[in-house]
Amino acid sequence: MTPKASPMLIICILIITMSWSVAQAVDFSYPAVFNFGDSNSDTGDLVSGLGIRLDLPNGQTYFQKPSARFCDGRLIVDFLITKNMSTAVDAMDLPFLNAYLESIGTPSFRTGCNFAAAGSTILPATATSVSPFSFGIQVSQFLRFKARVLELLAKGKKQDKYIPQEDYFAQGLYMFDIGQNDIDGAFYSRSEDQVVASIPNILLEFETGIKRLYDQGARRFWIHNTSPIGCLPKNIARYGQDSSRLDELGCVSSHNRAAKLFNLQLHALCKKLQNQFTDANVSYVDIFSIKFNLISNYTVYGFKQPLMACCGYGGPPMNYDSRISCGQTKDLNGSTVTAKGCDDSSKYISWDGIHYTEAANHYVSSQILIGNYSDPPLSDKMPLLLKKFK
Ligand SMILES: *[C@@H]1O[C@H](CO)[C@@H](O)[C@H](O)[C@H]1NC(C)=O
Ligand SMILES: *[C@@H]1O[C@H](CO)[C@@H](O)[C@H](O)[C@H]1NC(C)=O
Ligand SMILES: *[C@@H]1O[C@H](CO)[C@@H](O)[C@H](O)[C@H]1NC(C)=O
Ligand SMILES: *[C@@H]1O[C@H](CO)[C@@H](O)[C@H](O)[C@H]1NC(C)=O
Ligand SMILES: *[C@@H]1O[C@H](CO)[C@@H](O)[C@H](O)[C@H]1NC(C)=O
Repeated sequence: MTPKASPMLIICILIITMSWSVAQAVDFSYPAVFNFGDSNSDTGDLVSGLGIRLDLPNGQTYFQKPSARFCDGRLIVDFLITKNMSTAVDAMDLPFLNAYLESIGTPSFRTGCNFAAAGSTILPATATSVSPFSFGIQVSQFLRFKARVLELLAKGKKQDKYIPQEDYFAQGLYMFDIGQNDIDGAFYSRSEDQVVASIPNILLEFETGIKRLYDQGARRFWIHNTSPIGCLPKNIARYGQDSSRLDELGCVSSHNRAAKLFNLQLHALCKKLQNQFTDANVSYVDIFSIKFNLISNYTVYGFKQPLMACCGYGGPPMNYDSRISCGQTKDLNGSTVTAKGCDDSSKYISWDGIHYTEAANHYVSSQILIGNYSDPPLSDKMPLLLKKFK
């Protein structure tokens, strides 16, 4: 190569790479996000819907006030849709998602809506469920949401700031993070074999919901698998008295086995749906592996406590007491006690024994965006190189 030729070559490479990066970037920029799930991605639905309170220290790390999220700060969905990640790949550049059931303060749903509600299951809720807003209901809420939006758009009302445009429903990203409560809840009354046997039925209900969305024009699906629920302090405190039930990390083996089998079948379902929906994209995201890797190798990622809850009552090893949740003050056995937050939540993976800290959510989100944990891999679409040319 002569010295004269090389600048030309560099320019050619730059042009090719840049035009390619623009095309690819468009792929990842969705005009709106419609999210379905449980507390892992609930940005206020259960609190609004049931009129409950979530006190400080919930929200203290990022929002500096309770933000109706079961977390000290942001959730994975918050990190994914806003542009504030220190990863090689940018997240989307949208505002936080408002909860469907939030009615105060003229919330905008222009760039999406969040139907996820803490405690929700895929299977229909029962009288004793924490959340009445199970997956089928969330899908129905979406259908009503869409119908109302189209009605208002047809009337030509000046609501542009508050509602999506019609094509956002086809262009938008449909995200899902649900199933954890189906598996977790089943263990309270069933054997491991029974829990595992119920998985196909749970996934059939999930498939039904996804197909209802597809029939309504949803084309971009992003499906998170379920977490290592055996590593939740809540479950270790309850089932771990018998140490033979714990694995080498100190997590409840039965729960993690069931979660893995759920994920195996969910992954197969995603592939099946991708084959059926030839004009859609269905991505499966392996949250289980990201979180399990984090808990296994927590020191590498700057954490000090892999399992113990930051906010809780009872102290080590789990700092979790099912009678009193994070932020609550209660009379326990004659003395008044409060489930308080720890000094530095950024060193903890578990926030309150059930949910992850903002620090852990940040790590998980960065791993999702790197793309190695998705099928098909995001990295196919967004090589790590891209950032440099933006
Ligand atoms: C990004 O996150 C950091 C850390 O939480 C925060 O200090 C900063 O204000 C955020 N930046 C934007 C643009 O939101
Ligand atoms: C699905 O992904 C392919 C490859 O990235 C892209 O060309 C296509 O436009 C996507 N389809 C939808 C509906 O997003
Ligand atoms: C933890 O890190 C080690 C070495 O970096 C790696 O081999 C192992 O797979 C990681 N653990 C998990 C569960 O991914
Ligand atoms: C109440 O205190 C007594 C005496 O300290 C103890 O034996 C008992 O387990 C406590 N009960 C609860 C529910 O903590
Ligand atoms: C992602 O996968 C690529 C290709 O297999 C690998 O080179 C890279 O190190 C991986 N990145 C991470 C963060 O694991």
